[in-house]
Formats: sequence, structure tokens, C-alpha cells
Amino acid sequence: MTTPEIKLPKHVGLIMDGNGRWAKLRHMPRSFGHNAGMNRMIGLAEHAQKLGIKYLTVYALSTENLSSRPQEELDGLFTLFRKYFKSNVKKLVSKGARVKIIGDLTALPEDVAKLLEDSEKACPDTAGFTLVFAINYGTRSEILRACNLAVERGEKLDSEGFEKLLYTHGLPDPDLIIRTGGELRLSNFLTYQAAYAELYFSDVLFPDFTDGEFDKAIEEFSRRERRFGNV
Ligand code: FPP
Repeated sequence: MTTPEIKLPKHVGLIMDGNGRWAKLRHMPRSFGHNAGMNRMIGLAEHAQKLGIKYLTVYALSTENLSSRPQEELDGLFTLFRKYFKSNVKKLVSKGARVKIIGDLTALPEDVAKLLEDSEKACPDTAGFTLVFAINYGTRSEILRACNLAVERGEKLDSEGFEKLLYTHGLPDPDLIIRTGGELRLSNFLTYQAAYAELYFSDVLFPDFTDGEFDKAIEEFSRRERRFGNV
């Protein structure tokens, strides 16, 4: 995308839906779709960084996915997480990026949780580009967790104090949420933070969501008029 006057979102949220259907169309197991999805996610993160987007948050596993997907599929996803975080984080950091994880890691296999925490710790506190992984993430449990923390501390919260207790503390609100795969919902993804986000839905299944498809979402965002409740 070369148009100089394009208005870029600072923070994009990405719901990577459609891996299972993409695999089914090829008579392959769902894990094949998730692997293709991971490769596409890697490509899109590089593309987003090159465009000048500062934050990309990818929905890699929801709280509902963790409690309801077959164990075999979850094991396949954990294998992908191990593969990705063991081999990609250093490369990202060398390119001026960092990773951040949001979600409840305590319910993940211990080695995966440790790998995710160590990956985050190995990154600088600030970077030109932040790739955020939402893993065992859901806004409903994020809000409950924040409320319980406040109750334990006997704190009465204002919005600033509340936001400090969210996993997303320190991240700007998303400006644009993209969902691939044809469904028109947010599925518990950044629903508090996305109060004023622009929403973009694509029918394309995630493994087929090319850099060009991503650019279409950015161009559409650029055309939207954002008023944030103002006239
Ligand atoms: C939803 O598609 C996608 C997921 C539940 C998993 C997304 C995960 C990845 C793309 C891999 C990410 C990898 C790393 C390293 C973070 P679906 O399976 O629900 O698709 P369907 O609606 O077609 O069944």
C-alpha cells in the first residue's frame, strides 16, 4: 500500500477464524488449518510492522476454545505455540519488535505457560512494534479477575484504576478489529477495549487472508469517520 495520506490504525485486533473450515475443504485435520493459520499470522505480523502499525493483537485461543475444543485439537495448538515461541521471538526482537501475552496462562500446560512468560520477559519493555497474543483470553473473565483483585485490595475503582487491572494495561485501545471467516461477532475478544473500535469482517478463511486482504481492511478503516461519541 503506497497511498501517502492513508490513515493508519495504531492498534489492530485480529480474530483469526476459519482455519478448521479451510482444512476441511482440503480433507485435512483441523490442526493442518491451524498450522497454515500460524504461518499466515507470521506473514501478517511482518506486514503490519512494515506498514507502520504499532500494535497487533491476535486471538490465538479464547477461554471458550480452551474449555470446549477436543483435547487433540488443543494439543495441536500447544505444539504450535511451542514451535512458534521457541523459534521466532529472537528474530522479532532483532527487527525492533516485542511480544506480549494477554490471558490466563495458569490453565495451560506448565511448559507452555513458562515458555510464554519467558518469551515476554526476553523482550524489551518498549518497541516500535508489539505483537500481542491473546491466549486463554476472554474479556468477561478479564473483567471478573480485575473486579476480584480490586475487592481483595479493598479498592474502589475509577476507570483508570480499573484499566490498570486488565491484562491489556499499557496497551492502547484497539482502533480496528478484523475478523476473518465470515462470522459477524467479537466472541469475547477485547469487548471492553473495543468500545470505539471500527469493526471489519471478511468472508475469507484465515489461512487465505493475504497481505492484500489486510490492506483492504486498512483502506476501509482509513475511510471511516470516527467520532468517539462526539458530533
Ligand atoms: C479459529 O478458527 C482459530 C483458532 C481457535 C486458533 C487460531 C490459532 C492460530 C491461527 C495459530 C496461532 C499460532 C500461534 C503461534 C499463536 P476455527 O478453528 O474456529 O475455524 P473454523 O471456524 O473454520 O472451525
